[in-house]
Amino acid sequence: MTVQIRRSIRFLLNHRLVQLSAVSAVQTLLDFLRLDRNLRGTKEGCAEGDCGACTVLVGRLLDGRLKYESVNACIRFVGSLDGCHIVTVDSLAVPGGPLHPVQQAMVETHASQCGFCTPGFVMSLYGLWMENPKPSVAQIEKALQGNLCRCTGYAAIIRAAEAVSVIGNLDRDPLVAERATIIGKLESLKDGKRVEIGEGSERFLLPASVDDLADIYAAEPKARIVAGSTDVGLWVTKFMRDIAPVVHLSHLDELRRITVDESGIIFGAGVSYTESFPLISKHFPQLTELWNRIGGQQVRNMGTIGGNIANGSPIGDTPPALIALGASVVLRLGKVQRTVLLEDFFIEYGRQDRQPGEFVEAVRIPFLPENALYAVYKITKRLDEDISAVCGAFRVTLDGSGTVNEAIIAYGGMAGTPKRASHAEAALTGTAWTEASTEAAIEALGKDYTPLTDWRASADYRLLVAKNLLRRFHLETRGEEPVRLDRTIRQAV
Ligand SMILES: Cc1cc2nc3c(=O)[nH]c(=O)nc-3n(C[C@H](O)[C@H](O)[C@H](O)COP(=O)(O)OP(=O)(O)OC[C@H]3O[C@@H](n4cnc5c(N)ncnc54)[C@H](O)[C@@H]3O)c2cc1C
Ligand code: FES
Ligand code: FES
Repeated sequence: MTVQIRRSIRFLLNHRLVQLSAVSAVQTLLDFLRLDRNLRGTKEGCAEGDCGACTVLVGRLLDGRLKYESVNACIRFVGSLDGCHIVTVDSLAVPGGPLHPVQQAMVETHASQCGFCTPGFVMSLYGLWMENPKPSVAQIEKALQGNLCRCTGYAAIIRAAEAVSVIGNLDRDPLVAERATIIGKLESLKDGKRVEIGEGSERFLLPASVDDLADIYAAEPKARIVAGSTDVGLWVTKFMRDIAPVVHLSHLDELRRITVDESGIIFGAGVSYTESFPLISKHFPQLTELWNRIGGQQVRNMGTIGGNIANGSPIGDTPPALIALGASVVLRLGKVQRTVLLEDFFIEYGRQDRQPGEFVEAVRIPFLPENALYAVYKITKRLDEDISAVCGAFRVTLDGSGTVNEAIIAYGGMAGTPKRASHAEAALTGTAWTEASTEAAIEALGKDYTPLTDWRASADYRLLVAKNLLRRFHLETRGEEPVRLDRTIRQAV
């Protein structure tokens, strides 16, 4: 079937329809807002998704429902926004009129000093308000993990979040009251066409369907697939890498499908952390903390599980956790699909089992057997919004007599890829789940890994942490409080 092509992108920016036919594949939303549209309320702090000063809301339709989410404009490419509604801080207060309830709450609780971070906080709080008008402190803190303030302090900002519903009525907010009209406008932008802008290696595309993506990528395997751009965005803003031609996945609702059957969950590769969270925390409560500690809210709204896997980083958080669950990846090249175990997908640093033109279509996560013990621990320098120095995932299945039938131990940050600990697993399998067998497995970890020293952690620290995490897993699964072991070595490190 011939695919129809549109040579422009169209989106709503605040109250206006924007149509662009000349836009660079690597133009960020932040540059577009500030430099092209003179919307300077959105700030640039870090340009790498960390500080939240650039936060805007992006509304997207899925199955006729419109959801607004906070995103980092600094690492979001304009090209990915076809068919979306972008809401910036500049649109919140009507000129000469009252402030928006979120802004008014910030004023009344003295939640701003120099004000540089304030527009970003306002937009994150606006996104939270729309989702949850009466959030708990824990929910506020989660929504603000991706916003940094270096002068006011967070207590006043949390008070502002609590005050928004006292000041404003959500039902009268324009994004709620006019939702049907906005949905109508966004529906009218959907024409099912492939979008293609620019020429040759400078261009970017938004495939019309997954079949179209398969055709495009098979024909042009050197193109760069971009899902949430939370990794790729930084290649552009920090490393000035040329990534075009770019293939955005943002039109592909098929890749955002989630299927649950009796044996497990299949997440389309384009499902974000935020979209997957309800099912992850329901079926794998042991992953709740890990999911909540991936990036900040904006990164979790944009970043995808498929991107985390395809990126192949040894310190990505989902691979060790999913390897221990026995997850597999569905890959597609043209019309041909194949499924590989996630642990086999990672071959060596920077190399995965992926042919030119082959992309990640879905991730399949089986449910845990009833007798399985499972836990994941993420070790970082800072609790929130930090990349793992070590991430350890453990699954042990016991028989009725307490003997280990199967042990799967996977770490991130310990090798060039997320990697299983085959020696430690062998030391445990067939033995009683006791302190003695755990200590033998801990000893064997030294044969499994020769970690690197880098600015996140020294090799000694990594190995020590990996050992202590296995000890912790054993103690926790035996109903004992985790204790701090090797205290002297910890202090030395
Ligand atoms: C501030 C910040 C904090 C972060 N914190 C964490 C963290 O705590 N833990 C963590 O693990 N990561 C973290 N990351 C990294 C990043 O968010 C994740 O790796 C995320 O899952 C990447 O997904 P994405 O959709 O944004 O991928 P993209 O950036 O769009 O793509 C990443 C790579 O995957 C490829 N790709 C994407 N989708 C596909 C597909 N379907 N098929 C084939 N190739 C594909 C791209 O070509 C690219 O090579 C953080 C990033 C930022 C900016
Ligand atoms: S400028 Fe810091 S997150 Fe975008
Ligand atoms: S008010 Fe100054 S950085 Fe937050």
